[in-house]
Amino acid sequence: MNIRTETFKDYKAVYDLNYVAFGMREDESKLVERIRESEGFISELSIVAEENSEIVGHILLSKASVVHGDESTEVIVLAPVSVKPGHQKIGIGSMLINEGLKRVRELGYGLVLLIGHPSYYPKFGFKPARQFGLELRQFDVPDEVFMVCELKVWELDHVQGELQYPPAFF
Ligand SMILES: CC(C)(COP(=O)(O)OP(=O)(O)OC[C@H]1O[C@@H](n2cnc3c(N)ncnc32)[C@H](O)[C@@H]1OP(=O)(O)O)[C@@H](O)C(=O)NCCC(=O)NCCS
Repeated sequence: MNIRTETFKDYKAVYDLNYVAFGMREDESKLVERIRESEGFISELSIVAEENSEIVGHILLSKASVVHGDESTEVIVLAPVSVKPGHQKIGIGSMLINEGLKRVRELGYGLVLLIGHPSYYPKFGFKPARQFGLELRQFDVPDEVFMVCELKVWELDHVQGELQYPPAFF
């Protein structure tokens, strides 16, 4: 299994992967395309899992903001992550998430936020975000699916406010 940065040549395979992984719908494939064209895109945070020259997994992390009054903090949001049906539950998703978080940490970001399955993400260090004074108003989701991972010690003590996803997400 080769975990590497996505290149231009992977775009079609990544589109198709997200289409099948999310149950034959285009929403996430199109989301990836919009994020790639946006200011929040960081190319090394679009990562693929490749096996025998086939793209079997993909993760995208990109920039967003936590806003509190006049203060805005740049954070990273994780969305989407996908593994090809037939290749799931053998650790590919975990490899992509761990590699993504490692790269985000190396880039110096303190927080990664996401909306996702509450049973899947805690093992990577994600916790429900609202208990730390983080808010989400753009999407009406239950408390347990809005999660944060603290990559820098004490970051959650001084970053509070509303997570704002950029326009690419809408
Ligand atoms: C969610 C998703 C990305 C997870 O990817 P994945 O590669 O299946 O994830 P992993 O293999 O790392 O982990 C899945 C399960 O397999 C288990 N697992 C991991 N490696 C394993 C192994 N070698 N042997 C057996 N089981 C294993 C994990 O423990 C995990 O179980 P748990 O969640 O009950 O702890 C994938 O299922 C997917 O693409 N789903 C559709 C799209 C989607 O919903 N994306 C996420 C939106 S929030």
